[in-house]
Amino acid sequence: MLYAQISIGRFWMRVVRESANSSSRPFFSPARGAALHCGRVSLESLARRFSTPLYVYSGDAIMERLRLFQRALSGRKALVCYAVKANSALAILKLLDRGGAGFDIVSGGELERVLAAAPGAAGRAVFSGVGKTAAEIDLALKAGILEFNVESEAELALLARRARKLKVRARFALRVNPDVFADTHPYISTGLREHKFGIDIRRAPAIYRKAAANGWLEAHGVSVHIGSQIRSADPFGAAIERVTKLVRQLRREGIALQVIDAGGGLGIDYHAEFDPGAPAARSSAAGWDAAAKVQEYAAAVEKALGDFEGRLLIEPGRFLVAQAGALLARVLYVKRNGKKTFVITDAAMNDLIRPALYQAHHEIVPVRRRAGRARVVDVVGPVCESGDFFARDRKLVPVAPGDLVALLDAGAYGMAQSSNYNTRPRAAEVLVEGGKARLIRRRETTADLLAPETI
Ligand code: LLP
Repeated sequence: MLYAQISIGRFWMRVVRESANSSSRPFFSPARGAALHCGRVSLESLARRFSTPLYVYSGDAIMERLRLFQRALSGRKALVCYAVKANSALAILKLLDRGGAGFDIVSGGELERVLAAAPGAAGRAVFSGVGKTAAEIDLALKAGILEFNVESEAELALLARRARKLKVRARFALRVNPDVFADTHPYISTGLREHKFGIDIRRAPAIYRKAAANGWLEAHGVSVHIGSQIRSADPFGAAIERVTKLVRQLRREGIALQVIDAGGGLGIDYHAEFDPGAPAARSSAAGWDAAAKVQEYAAAVEKALGDFEGRLLIEPGRFLVAQAGALLARVLYVKRNGKKTFVITDAAMNDLIRPALYQAHHEIVPVRRRAGRARVVDVVGPVCESGDFFARDRKLVPVAPGDLVALLDAGAYGMAQSSNYNTRPRAAEVLVEGGKARLIRRRETTADLLAPETI
């Protein structure tokens, strides 16, 4: 079908693709030989204005992704609760709030961020995480969040005690562990019995029954999250099928749960070849299409939900923001050591730790292409560790000191996982909406870093 469409002609494909709003990345070169742009803004001009390393996000691309989920699930009561951990920039939270998103938070800090960016959003926030403290629970109870996704019996007992103390009822969902295998990196897989997450699904009914006797607890829903960067829709379907079965069983016993929270985890294609052609000139021949992925995911979820008539929550993080962002870095040096060539950039593992931590792949592209043959290089940062690399033995078109490169798909778990290792101030962040670029976080200074310390 896809090939038939392509053979009909390129123009027709453009129309299909644009109307689907699912071009995978918002970075492109408006003309042959021109610098990469985000929207109408050139990455070269951003680097001049704000220096490097610099995170650049497209607000339009984030909103497109949110709408893909909202449209795909429009047939039922559904709320997209953005997983704040993926990128917790206040400006991005504000943008998503305006788009009608809810939020999935995992700490008191993330709740405070949501409240700062979107004061009216507490009722659209769910609180996940295996180690909530009493102070965090209190904060969320007072804010009146939508539900607590509870990960152990001890946590449920603490929640009941805090609710009683504050004289408010606590809505909770048990986060069940469905024992479903999801093919992803072991550090970000969560749905097997051996993982620390959730409550064994077989034990859940007894816990719901016990909670029914406590007037401070309201059994509101059930939640599940099997892991992150999961490329196939099948494991999501399998997990939700088990959860739906549990909901039916509980209903027969008189415990009517109103909400199924299907978690996050839908993956993207980090390896997708970068096509610098302007968005209007791109074809979907590369084969990865965000709209199709969301459709496939939504179909699997819908099928597994069957006749469940309650509300569906989903918690996507990466899928909403990863491809909307790039980390812009400047090449400092190119050096040869024996047989190897190293491209040393001013960004490092403290700015983007995913390659070092998960052997993750990020496409690296020059902002302005030079002529010449590609060669095999390592792209590395200045941090004093051999683990400080962005790419190893990667074929890269020629780059020289002073050139700008963009590390793609860095919008999720990039800045959010950055650190000050080697006393490196964290990067600045820019949000591009339409033709306008706005600094949403200034570059840290060394004074910022030293401020909390005493001698
Ligand atoms: N909900 C819960 C309960 C989660 O633990 C997570 C992610 C999400 C939602 C969002 O998952 P997403 O849609 O973004 O896959 N730092 C790693 C990813 C860690 C994911 C942790 N939990 C990375 O850079 O790949």
